[in-house]
Amino acid sequence: MGKVIGIIALKGGVGKTSCAANLGSALSHEFGQKVLLVDANFSAPNLAMHFGLFDYEGTIQDALMRKMPLQKTIHKYATNLHIVPASVEGKQITDHYRLKECLAQVRDLYDLILIDASPNLHGDILSTMIASDELYVVTSPDYPTLSTTIRAVKVAKQRNTPIKGLILNKVRGKRFELILLLN
Ligand SMILES: Nc1ncnc2c1ncn2[C@@H]1O[C@H](COP(=O)(O)OP(=O)(O)OP(=O)(O)O)[C@@H](O)[C@H]1O
Ligand SMILES: [Mg+2]
Repeated sequence: MGKVIGIIALKGGVGKTSCAANLGSALSHEFGQKVLLVDANFSAPNLAMHFGLFDYEGTIQDALMRKMPLQKTIHKYATNLHIVPASVEGKQITDHYRLKECLAQVRDLYDLILIDASPNLHGDILSTMIASDELYVVTSPDYPTLSTTIRAVKVAKQRNTPIKGLILNKVRGKRFELILLLN
């Protein structure tokens, strides 16, 4: 059964979608994993765009709202890399357990399912937290982002979804950045 991994952050624009897209590409192309990428940023999705998909029928919202089975929303970008896009009309989802239910239908078909989450704490991100076996939190090395990162970690812990790692993105070596101290 494929592992479901959520890529989360509570701050917008830190690089969740870029990390999900790049991880999906690398794991499928370089490591031969069969990967499904799922756009769970229901309010402002753009994962499909990273793969040149602009005009598509069948979105994650269609599956969540029972308009079509999840299998029908899967776009086969490459043999080992499939994508479920989200509607750019930003349809809201209120049942946060539905994503987990939908992914259960296809878990057996993939080695890994990567979910690109929304930064919306009181809504969409819960779908990702509930659906994921484990989470990676994306952050950049500045105080404002790190303060929300700590909050994301706390929320994930409250929901008992294990955090497997932190992805430090946008490191530029600027003076305002915090540095990593290793003993
Ligand atoms: N390491 C990086 N270096 C330079 N630019 C980056 C890097 N990672 C992401 N970006 C750019 O930052 C912007 C935001 O990235 P991205 O869309 O991946 O963030 P996000 O966390 O998914 O945003 P949102 O919260 O809106 O979903 C994009 O323009 C992306 O190309
Ligand atoms: Mg995004």
